[in-house]
Amino acid sequence: MSFPNHVKIIEVGPRDGLQNEKQVVPTATKIELIDRLAEAGLPVIEATSFVSPKWVPQMGDNSAVLQGIRRHAGVNYPVLTPNLQGFDAAIEAGAREVAIFGAASESFSRKNINCSIAESLKRFEPVVSAASALEIPVRGYVSCVVGCPYEGAVAPEKAAEVARTLFDMGCYEVSLGDTIGVGNPASIERMIEACARQIPIDRLAGHYHDTYGMAIANIHASLQLGMAIFDASVAGLGGCPYAKGASGNVATEDVIYLLHGLGIETGVDLAKLAAIGDWISSTLNRPNGAKAGRAICAKTAE
Ligand code: HMG
Ligand code: MG
Repeated sequence: MSFPNHVKIIEVGPRDGLQNEKQVVPTATKIELIDRLAEAGLPVIEATSFVSPKWVPQMGDNSAVLQGIRRHAGVNYPVLTPNLQGFDAAIEAGAREVAIFGAASESFSRKNINCSIAESLKRFEPVVSAASALEIPVRGYVSCVVGCPYEGAVAPEKAAEVARTLFDMGCYEVSLGDTIGVGNPASIERMIEACARQIPIDRLAGHYHDTYGMAIANIHASLQLGMAIFDASVAGLGGCPYAKGASGNVATEDVIYLLHGLGIETGVDLAKLAAIGDWISSTLNRPNGAKAGRAICAKTAE
């Protein structure tokens, strides 16, 4: 068994995490969160999304967030853009990388972006062309790669087919989303194997929500298959507004603890990250979802 020497972490807390908060999170708090994450060494921080504020009011301050952050050299700040309208607004606000997001399940696609899978893929084409003309890199997401809140189990081949379409369209990386966190190492392995038959594994990322507590085991299984890019959310913030009951992404602190324990470099300062997780949890008055984060903060407080 051989692990990669280095793993890239995409911090999605400010977007995937905060999009799901019931309370209004002040723009200044979002900006402080992003700036602190950059200082802790996260190389990619998904900052916000340019979606309809009627659908996701929490991301309604997208431009102000993107314009308010202090950009660190070498850090990317991608944003979600579901259509050209979102793409244009993102570029206007200074975005230098965007992400499009499709699904492997028809029902989830309808609930999340109000169209079928085929329609969504058609709608992404002009976004990718516009991005390519401006030399803006585009990341792709596939949601519900192992299970859907409305349809149950999803065939690995379906996830692979949508991932392949996004890759062929021009996405430089495709993130495989276990949106409702129902995967386990066996189902995740089957899904990655199907995707890796279509796309080189170094272009695939794991995006695992932790609803059933399997996300760390799923990352370990993915590492064994050669995957080296993972999305994670500080303090395990979040969920998805269109996947009821789903908990947040795997906590970044727990992922970094695992990776450093395996001797894998990330460039992330775990002590700083744990302090950020503790701060944002208390600011939002919610429990800190990072087990490693809580343990590190408890030791520091001794
Ligand atoms: P729609 O209602 O079908 O759009 O929504 P429309 O084109 O018919 O337009 C209707 C109205 O929306 C119009 O305004 C448009 O201007 C406006 P009106 O004339 O009624 O005043 N509109 C927009 N406004 C701002 N920004 C835009 C935009 N587009 C249209 N980009 C749409 C379609 C895709 C916009 C909507 O369904 C939407 O915003 N969905 C986003 C849902 C979302 O953000 N979900 C969470 C992110 S995905 C996720 O969390 C999963 C992930 O983490 C991976 C995983 O875990 O699996 C990535
Ligand atoms: Mg997600």
